[in-house]
Amino acid sequence: MALASIFAELKGLVPDLSIDSINFLYVGGGIAATFAVYSAVLVIYRLWFHPLVGFPGPKLLAATTWYETYVDLVHRDFPERLARIHEKYGPIVRVAPHEIHVNDAEFFHTVFATEAKHRTNIIPPRGLGQEDSIGSTRSHDMHQLRRKPLDKFMGQRNIVRQQAMIHEEIRVLDQAMVALKGNGKPVRLDCVFTSFTGDIVGRLACGETPALLQGKDFSPEWYDMIRGAARIIPVLRHFPQVGEITQKMPNWLVQTLVPRSTGFRVLQMLGAERIARIRADVANEKKGAAEDGDSMFHHLLRSDLPESEIVSARLNAEATSFMGAGTYPTAATLIFVAYYILADPKIEGRLRNDLKDVMANFDHEVPNWEKLEQVEYLQACIKEGLRLLRLFRRKARISTDLDLTYGNYVIPKGTPVSLSPYTMHIDPDVFPEPSKFKPERWLAKDLDPRMNRNLNPFLAGSRNCIGMHAAWAQMYLILATLFRPNKTYRLKLGECDESDVYPVVDNEFGVAKYDSRGLNALVV
Ligand code: HEM
Repeated sequence: MALASIFAELKGLVPDLSIDSINFLYVGGGIAATFAVYSAVLVIYRLWFHPLVGFPGPKLLAATTWYETYVDLVHRDFPERLARIHEKYGPIVRVAPHEIHVNDAEFFHTVFATEAKHRTNIIPPRGLGQEDSIGSTRSHDMHQLRRKPLDKFMGQRNIVRQQAMIHEEIRVLDQAMVALKGNGKPVRLDCVFTSFTGDIVGRLACGETPALLQGKDFSPEWYDMIRGAARIIPVLRHFPQVGEITQKMPNWLVQTLVPRSTGFRVLQMLGAERIARIRADVANEKKGAAEDGDSMFHHLLRSDLPESEIVSARLNAEATSFMGAGTYPTAATLIFVAYYILADPKIEGRLRNDLKDVMANFDHEVPNWEKLEQVEYLQACIKEGLRLLRLFRRKARISTDLDLTYGNYVIPKGTPVSLSPYTMHIDPDVFPEPSKFKPERWLAKDLDPRMNRNLNPFLAGSRNCIGMHAAWAQMYLILATLFRPNKTYRLKLGECDESDVYPVVDNEFGVAKYDSRGLNALVV
């Protein structure tokens, strides 16, 4: 039967098949057919002709990233599925059409290498409003140029020097706790920790505190915003266009359409305002006024970076990245550690005892972070928190200079190679009873050296966490303050249990279930 007569016969059945709509069908069908052919060719190329064809792993992952997108958005447990894939296929798998994943801590430093070994590019995250920040800089050379002026500022020596600033925030926190003693109202410790870390990173980045700790009830809106922003990360990971489009929309429209992405917007606005002020200060210095202000942005604006590197858009991206990266993971670790201390009288008892001497003069003088590092049990609690924090998401680096060799496999240079700190942190061979919070495992006389080898919460190499020293300092100081024995108040766990803090959702960092009651405690 001729095509025309088929259409004639269908005419009565289908509401409107005018010439225009027939053309539309042709065009639509043509596009769909082209897309189908393109997809088929792409899959054939990936499965039979791609340079990574010889690597083990499920064909579905080698063929497409859509499966991972589906799992990330619906089940949110891709890291766990990846662990099971390794059980079946061995330590090296093709986790995505263009990416290799290795489950072997011995290979960690080959991938997360320093510049002396080989240069590392990344696939930059998009849609977070952080494009052009150091953490989102694709090329090794550009990353090094941007990071260099900050390395010293964020280095251990300078953080030790900047401790007075952390001490000031510690005093604010301690006084707030004293004031809450006996009022019978639970304190949201998750808000306390997020505000504390937000204040510190604000001071480090811009030289002034956002005073979140002093906000009503420790600024729960800040915690909600950070958590809300984290929740949209899995969407942005696969559909960065959502973030890119919302960044161009007016605030009211974003708030209506994608409320969670306003978090990143707020971070940008906070940074933009302060950077403009610092820029004006530094311009005045150049006109002969004395140097004042010792923040990351003062350093960047005084540095000899080319003009293109200190334009407002780039510095705003850096501010957003610092506020997000600097606030959330440190707070998440503290929430987790504080819960286990409060939930287990033996852990709390031992910690209080071990802190007795070093914290004896707290009312006159907050001890230095270096002194607190010597309290082995405190260090062990923090390490255990960092281990279990579940740095879920695999992290990738691209070697630009060398092919990497793993066993009999040669991974061509230019290939993203990833490892998952999460899997290394819960390897039952290295950490027996891996899901248990057991600080004493770090105090064994004959400590298994593989434990420190496997613990890599800050990653390593030329792109490791630039804020790690600031994070350690904060964690030591706040935990020692809250759990020192010689103080007038004590914290008592409120209406919450392990399921309210245990990270189960993969938002880069593990996040507790979305309907968590939060970590709360009574001040008695
Ligand atoms: C317990 C706390 C923290 C943990 C576990 C942590 C972890 C990490 C990790 C794993 C990375 C590498 C990310 C990647 O390669 O994709 C990273 C990078 C980064 N972190 Fe942290 N971080 C913490 C605290 C901080 C703090 C306090 C700051 C800022 C004050 C900060 C700022 C950054 C920045 C700017 C980067 C990008 C560095 C670069 O690419 O050169 N982090 N962090």
